[in-house]
This record gives sequence, structure tokens and C-alpha cells, in this order.
Amino acid sequence: MIATSLAVLFTGNGISVTLLAKDEEKGRERYRTYYNDLIQRGLVTKEQAEHCEKLLSFTQDYSGISEQRVIFECIIEDLELKHCVYDEIERNCKSLLAIASTTSSISPIDLGKKMVQKEKIMATHPWSPPHLVPCVELVKNDFTAPESVKAVKDILEYCGREVAFMNKPAPGFIGNRLQHALYREAVYMIEQGICGPEDIDKTIRTSFGPRYTSIGLFEHFDYAGLDMVLSIEDYLFPTLSNAVKTQDYIRERVERGDLGCKTGEGVYNWKERDMDAFRNKASEPYLKFFNWKLPKV
Ligand SMILES: NC(=O)c1ccc[n+]([C@@H]2O[C@H](COP(=O)([O-])OP(=O)(O)OC[C@H]3O[C@@H](n4cnc5c(N)ncnc54)[C@H](O)[C@@H]3O)[C@@H](O)[C@H]2O)c1
Repeated sequence: MIATSLAVLFTGNGISVTLLAKDEEKGRERYRTYYNDLIQRGLVTKEQAEHCEKLLSFTQDYSGISEQRVIFECIIEDLELKHCVYDEIERNCKSLLAIASTTSSISPIDLGKKMVQKEKIMATHPWSPPHLVPCVELVKNDFTAPESVKAVKDILEYCGREVAFMNKPAPGFIGNRLQHALYREAVYMIEQGICGPEDIDKTIRTSFGPRYTSIGLFEHFDYAGLDMVLSIEDYLFPTLSNAVKTQDYIRERVERGDLGCKTGEGVYNWKERDMDAFRNKASEPYLKFFNWKLPKV
């Protein structure tokens, strides 16, 4: 998913990509599905998509990426497997400059643990799908070489990505720390009988949610006044959730197999939902960020 979406982004901005993949047919099919979606939305023409696809090649063997200097590693979230892949890369790619892992959670310290060239590893956490969502969180270590960071940052910024830097690793990186703090409080309010999920979602969608697509959190609270922040928070903080593990409201659903959309039931019932309409609605806010350097064909 992430590898193909990044291939869509890079080729869409004129950068050649070699995908190391076991199944070329499946990879190409997904690549074309993403492009067809962009064509349907009027963001890319059929001719441009065909032109971009010429920049994509596949290999099943590490010898096929031996000339690559920058590698985005997008394999499943399994540290041991990632170590095996880095070992292959180090043995095969003689002019390696950087490995950027799209890991959702693993610290670059752990990623680089078995590497010989630890100075070349970093985490670049994208948001799905990375060809549409601009933010990438870049996490380096004390030992990550500045030239490796620069090479990855330059590619991402060339493709219009917004790179957010972390000075040191922290679980969940930036976005998921924030997102799960919000989710923990939302679940807490439901468990306390304060309100239901529909009213929480309505509040977010129609109050502060839209604000943060044009200004930042710190801009907003500076604008509101830090004296007001102080008086609200001293009163509010003692009443907020301080749960240190996933709350029962979620845990019970997982235990009985109600995993959300994919099983038809989660917090909401998904059985009657039009999923195409839902996916379109979910990606719509990101379309305004579409800023690729598409070929002029
Ligand atoms: N899906 C998301 O929303 C999302 C968002 C941000 C980051 N990520 C992270 O991106 C990475 C990839 O996630 P995904 O959702 O694209 O997973 P995915 O299951 O869609 O793709 C994983 C790919 O890894 C390949 N693979 C497995 N073992 C391999 C090996 N030994 N060598 C080479 N390839 C191998 C699989 O064939 C598959 O193509 C993970 O680290 C994940 O945590 C995912």
C-alpha cells in the first residue's frame, strides 16, 4: 500500500522509481488504481499518467536496486524483517546514501541496531495515502548523517511534501501522539456517560477540526491568549483521562471481533455504508494540497 502510493507520488513528480516487489502484476494494478482515481478527480490526465508510469520499473532481486542511493523501505511493521532487508540493502547497494523507513512506530535507534552504516537510517512516517496526504514525519538519531537526512528531505520536499522534524524519537511520532491523546479523551467521555460518539464527531467536524487545515495549534492558542489557556487548563486537566492502556470500550469490541469498518461493526455500524462515498469524503480535504510537478504532456 505505502510503497505503491509513494511510487505514484515520486513518478508523478518526474522521479524514476524501482519497486522491489514480489508480485509485479499486483503492484502495477494498485499503481494504476491510484492513478485512475486521480484521473477521475481531474487532477491528472490519462496522458500524464501513462507518461509517469514509464518512470516505474520493478525488480524481484536486490541486484536490481544496486545502483540506488536513496531507498524508501515500506515492508510490513516487523522489526526482524526490516533488519533482514537492511542487511540485503547494505550488501547490495554500494553507493547507498540513505534508507528511509516508512515505519508507523519503530524508533530509528531500533531500526539501525544491526546495520553497519547506522548513519544512513531514519524514519519517514507518511500518512495514508502518502500520494495525497502532504505530511511526512522525519525522525533521525544522534548518529544519522546530515547528508542522508538532506537527501531524503530534498526528495520529499521536491514532491510537495511537508516534512515535520523530530529532534529525537518518541513512540507514535508527532501525529499519532496527538491523535491518540484526543481519541483517549473521546473514549473516556463515552465511558463516563458524558456524550456519545456521534456528538463527539459532530463537535470535532464543526468546531476546531476545520481550523487546523489553515492555521496551527500554537497559532490558535496564541491568538486566543495564553492567560485564558492557563485558567482553562488548571480547572480542566484534573478531569481529563489519564488511562495508561486501551480503554475497555475499545478492548471489549476487539475481543468480540468488532474491529470497525473491516468487520462491519466497530464504534459505528458500517454494514449499510456506501464505502466509495466514504473514501471520497475522507480524501477530499487533502485535494487542496495537490501540488505535483506533473509532466506537461
Ligand atoms: N497502511 C498505513 O496506513 C500506513 C501508514 C503509515 C505508515 N505505514 C507503515 O508502512 C509500512 C508498510 O505498510 P503497508 O500498509 O504498505 O503494508 P502492506 O502490507 O500493504 O505492504 C507491505 C509489503 O511488504 C512486502 N514484504 C513483506 N516482507 C518482505 C520482505 N522480507 N522483503 C521485501 N518485501 C517484503 C509485502 O510483500 C508487501 O508488499 C509499515 O511499516 C507500516 O507500519 C503504514
